[in-house]
Amino acid sequence: MKIAMVGSGYVGLVSGACFADFGHDVVCIDKDPAKIDSLKAGIMPIFEPGLAELVTSNAKSGRLSFTTDLTEGIAGAAAIFIAVGTPSRRGDGHADLSYVYAVAEEVGQALNNDAVVVTKSTVPVGTGDEVERILTEAAPGVKFAVASNPEFLREGAAIADFKHPDRIVIGTEDEWARGVMREVYRPLFLNKSPILFTSRRTSELIKYAANAFLAVKITFINEMADLCEKVGADVQDVSRGIGMDGRIGSKFLHAGPGYGGSCFPKDTLALLKTAEDYEAPTRIVEAVVAVNDSRKRAMGRKVIEALGGTDAARGKKVAMLGLTFKPNTDDMRDSPSIAIALALADAGISVSAYDPEGMELAAPLMPEVKMAANTYAAIDGADAVVIVTEWDAFRALDFDRIKRIAKAPVLVDLRNVYDPAEVRAKGFAYSSVGRV
Ligand code: UGA
Repeated sequence: MKIAMVGSGYVGLVSGACFADFGHDVVCIDKDPAKIDSLKAGIMPIFEPGLAELVTSNAKSGRLSFTTDLTEGIAGAAAIFIAVGTPSRRGDGHADLSYVYAVAEEVGQALNNDAVVVTKSTVPVGTGDEVERILTEAAPGVKFAVASNPEFLREGAAIADFKHPDRIVIGTEDEWARGVMREVYRPLFLNKSPILFTSRRTSELIKYAANAFLAVKITFINEMADLCEKVGADVQDVSRGIGMDGRIGSKFLHAGPGYGGSCFPKDTLALLKTAEDYEAPTRIVEAVVAVNDSRKRAMGRKVIEALGGTDAARGKKVAMLGLTFKPNTDDMRDSPSIAIALALADAGISVSAYDPEGMELAAPLMPEVKMAANTYAAIDGADAVVIVTEWDAFRALDFDRIKRIAKAPVLVDLRNVYDPAEVRAKGFAYSSVGRV
């Protein structure tokens, strides 16, 4: 089956490469000639473990190709995926659908065979209706259907998530389109990955509801962590204690500096806007967004406290380990590190940082921070070390070395990577999240 993937960003590229790996003929299309040229040369525009190998091997076998020409790319495709960005619209938090609609228009003008047009981009409820309207106008007389097929890929684990999904959600009321989508996902179907067919609007909402619910879980445990610190309890045990209840589930209950990334912050905001437009306010999500926003800067205050308070902290130096919003990505979007670095700079603290993949994208976002060549170069002369992102590289720090090169043995562990008793036994003043 021929599949066209319009948009070769994170979602489009991972999905396209995985579909090709299943044996489909995939053409990835993107407007950006530089991106297409690099992909043809095997250079990935993003950092994602395993992606370069997957793209290269499928391109070599002839199942995966790249083009800037949409008309050529979609010709003969039975399924045409729209996988372009839906950033927050400047000013109001609504999802910006201009890229999705522009692609729909172009597809409509170029379409001359039967095809299912599938939105994979994260789009608010009702977007599929508008895509259908655009296509009906632009491609009269061509048989098509519009389906919704949200992605549930985590950055850093996207290929595994694609190949072993908890579920595949497909939203379309059209029986023919359901058949085409069954064919698209046949290899996963055979592996018994559950496919949930729903209406298009339901599928669009499932995506937002899933991300919002995960954001609720994280924010809930973060607030429990704050309470744990006050009452002398241990948040990791609280997570375990509640997570063992099958109704609650143990995942996404790791307390930390607040969620970031390209999805949760943007999608929770967009859901709030939809809820507002339809006069069905989602108060819980409103609270989650506000609590998470204030949490990031509060983490800066936690570091200042570890340095002895505002007066003592002024003029001191902090080493930040990890800048990306989570490990195994170079993505800096809405990363807590940005607010933390700013809070420290505002308090007159100088900051050096090291991140295995994120420094290039981080540097312009935090001009006040000095990027170091490696972990220990960042720590050299620091009055406190802060673990912001739980990269594996920071899980086995050389504490003796830190004591030799840092000004003081102070560790603030915002990801609860270490055991408090063990670190304290090495002579460190140690603070973490939700543990005393
Ligand atoms: C998220 C969802 O997990 C994916 O299912 C979804 O497809 C994706 O958004 C999307 O909409 O495209 P992602 O943003 O890559 O994926 O990252 P997550 O692993 O979900 O982490 C998000 C943030 O939550 C990170 O800042 C992470 O550190 C934080 N987090 C996560 C916690 O603080 N605690 C947890 O227990 C889990």
